[in-house]
Amino acid sequence: MSGDHVSETKLAVAPNDLESFWLPFTPNRQFKREPRLVSRARDMHYYKPDGTAVLDATAGLWCSNAGHCRETIVKAIQEQAAELDFAPTFQFAHPKVFELSNRLRDLMPGDLDYAFFCNSGSEADDTALKMALAYHRANGEGSRTRFIGRERGYHGVGFGGISVGGMVANRKFYGPLLAGVDHLPHTYDRAKQAYARGEPEWGGHLADELQRLVDLHDASTIAAVIVEPMSGSTGALLPPVGYLKRLRELCDKHGILLIFDEVITGFGRLGYATASERFGVIPDLLSFAKGITSGTVPMGGVMVRKFIYDKFQTGAEHVIDLFHGYTYSGHPLAAAAALATLDLYRDEGLFERSLALEPVIGDAAHALKDHPLVLDIRTMGLVAAMDLAPVEGLPGKRGFDAMRRAFHDENMMVRVSGDTIAFSPPLIVSQAQIGEIFDKFRRVLDMIA
Ligand SMILES: Cc1ncc(COP(=O)(O)O)c(C=O)c1O
Repeated sequence: MSGDHVSETKLAVAPNDLESFWLPFTPNRQFKREPRLVSRARDMHYYKPDGTAVLDATAGLWCSNAGHCRETIVKAIQEQAAELDFAPTFQFAHPKVFELSNRLRDLMPGDLDYAFFCNSGSEADDTALKMALAYHRANGEGSRTRFIGRERGYHGVGFGGISVGGMVANRKFYGPLLAGVDHLPHTYDRAKQAYARGEPEWGGHLADELQRLVDLHDASTIAAVIVEPMSGSTGALLPPVGYLKRLRELCDKHGILLIFDEVITGFGRLGYATASERFGVIPDLLSFAKGITSGTVPMGGVMVRKFIYDKFQTGAEHVIDLFHGYTYSGHPLAAAAALATLDLYRDEGLFERSLALEPVIGDAAHALKDHPLVLDIRTMGLVAAMDLAPVEGLPGKRGFDAMRRAFHDENMMVRVSGDTIAFSPPLIVSQAQIGEIFDKFRRVLDMIA
């Protein structure tokens, strides 16, 4: 290739040509007509290409829990890239992935002592589902193949995740999905729970629906139940008092594995390392992603209880114990980023900070209750969600406009899901910035009313 050809090619790519990138979970035509671009970030802010600061009220995508471009994490990634760029973890390994596993073991409740790594929440959830199947088979109960998910659940976009997930639009285009999946009812009832701060009083009894599904399918066909302790993507549905404990009891009674999807709730979002710790309920498998590296390098994983790991350690020594893994499982850059992130969480007390700010975000969010567009507000940990009155005949339009106007007119990033807006700022957010988030959002509501 001649030098001239290279420069011609460069010139042919106009820097403002947005056409080729097919954005995920985005209406592409609208985006390309009115792009929402950020090109830099630091701590609590993104910056638009023109330098305007954008307040990050959503930790990127529920992931940048330590804030953006934190120096120690950046340095750890840079140094790791220079020292060991890649090492396989099939049959080989590198020191940091063990160090990270040990740190996670120490952070987890109970005997969730073993860490399996992948690159995303979707992979983590599919991994957990596969582990559940393989466990039962190794345990002589190969008939346990059925999964129970929950309506309005989100477990990523793999075929396993969308099968057990309960968000209709994520499922309906993709055929029959996994066979033999059933769903618990979701736990939200506005009439009985509106304006909840923390666990709603009503709804714990809905866990008993698991007993109904056991009666229908028989326990001998059910491998696992998977739920998010707090459903994030569907608009922050809070677990009713006693609900998760009851699920745990029923799973124990019937030999069913309980999987907590902590991709959002892990790493401080609800004021603890895990929601499991907050609610005092230990699952058998716990999937995580996002906050593990504060979003800096893709990483996900599953924490596994000892009895499950042990079940796979009985065959001949030269035979692989679990036929599952990803080229980038435990990637050195991700491991280095995760270790530096966990250091920051510890050194700055960010999980405790999240818990301490729970009443602050609660007060600030619930103060918008008087706005005529607001139908419900739910808060827990450093999460607030607000349901907005839909535009008649155009579901999702009000929420979409709120997100757009927040970005363009108030220089704030929020997360939209239908007509619900979710706020989940980095755990370093100040009290003043929490106030700023909801001042800005009140102005947004006034604009779109
Ligand atoms: C609870 C939950 N599980 C799984 C996922 C999927 O994670 P990823 O987008 O990293 O695949 C998400 C992402 O938002 C999530 O919120």
